[in-house]
Amino acid sequence: MESLQVELGSRSYPIYIGEGLLGQMRLLKKHIASTQILIVTNETIAPLYLDDLTLQLTPEFDVQTSILPDGEVYKTLGYLNHIFDSLLETRCNRQVTLIALGGGVIGDMTGFAAASYQRGVNFIQIPTTLLSQVDSSVGGKTGVNHRLGKNMIGAFYQPQCVLIDTSVLTTLPARELSAGLAEVIKYGAICSIEFFEWLEKNMDKLLSKDVHALTHAIKTSCGMKADVVAQDEKESGVRATLNFGHTFGHAIETHMGYGEWLHGEAVSVGMCMAADMSNKMGWITDADSARVIRLCEKANLPTKKPAGMSSSDFIKHMKVDKKNTSESIRLILLNKLGKAVIHDCLDDVQITRVIDLFDEVQS
Ligand code: NAD
Ligand code: GLY
Repeated sequence: MESLQVELGSRSYPIYIGEGLLGQMRLLKKHIASTQILIVTNETIAPLYLDDLTLQLTPEFDVQTSILPDGEVYKTLGYLNHIFDSLLETRCNRQVTLIALGGGVIGDMTGFAAASYQRGVNFIQIPTTLLSQVDSSVGGKTGVNHRLGKNMIGAFYQPQCVLIDTSVLTTLPARELSAGLAEVIKYGAICSIEFFEWLEKNMDKLLSKDVHALTHAIKTSCGMKADVVAQDEKESGVRATLNFGHTFGHAIETHMGYGEWLHGEAVSVGMCMAADMSNKMGWITDADSARVIRLCEKANLPTKKPAGMSSSDFIKHMKVDKKNTSESIRLILLNKLGKAVIHDCLDDVQITRVIDLFDEVQS
């Protein structure tokens, strides 16, 4: 087992990474304060992993469950209320520990429920998708979507620990694996050219779920994220760079309707657009911009914007982004491959030109 620490003073917590960790409950138990547990999961993950987890925790703990429907489209305040219903119906008190067993949707919703139930209770992340293992389970961003904007309602709220069992990825569909690889590519592009080059060489192994390659990718990604979060928990500076590709990507998700494009797929196209814009700014070469596109293609990710989505569609949605200031759209670009830069676009002309010409870049 590998272990990393997110250093946040009294709110520091470990990330455990290894094969078969779901069978090692001693790691979890030391982070559970009292006997009450509510496991939050969804209808797809429950038949795969819920019984086993529940069995291992009973009878020592009083284990309740809340099973949500599966999908980004249910990441809403309305469905968040189902978690509060379960907590109140089973008379959970302030010592309850919530366990998020699922991907980023379950993790973000459970974290937000934990942040707000009785003004804050403990929670643990057991991420089951690659995307949630490398990104969403670490760093304490929690929340739900609003019809007008992605993740617009939420809180920063850190878990007690993150338990990453790489063996759950065996049941993950290929399309979801690729979506997770988008966030892995992101870390290479913004933090480390060495990791980017490792990904270029090892993408086939990752796609075939080679456990050593996956463990290396997860550990490296979590290490980079933990480092950034420790420096800037509430995103007043460097943490914004983790949103490379996300401003274009969120626009795609919102425009297409949540769930149509996977988050990682939208981020993939967003990263290609951000790399292209970095190239147009004169910061990275044509060849480096093409490397970002090629690596996304190699991970079986989309690299072209949705048919029919115009630059004005993009701009409309990009204006509803948490990073923006009142005067500008804030983008994360690259000033070289492996190094991100925060760029405030004071007018829409530059972004419009990049979006309008984007598909031609690849033809
Ligand atoms: P997801 O939670 O929707 O999971 C993807 C699909 O895989 C679902 O159908 C799920 O039921 C299924 N699944 C999960 N684990 C499985 C397994 N082991 N075997 C088989 N099927 C499995 O999607 P996601 O990609 O994990 O997360 C996307 C969400 O994460 C988005 O809402 C995004 O906004 C959010 N996110 C949050 C952060 C953050 O910092 N909090 C960062 C990135 C993304
Ligand atoms: N996924 C970006 C962040 O956690 O800041």
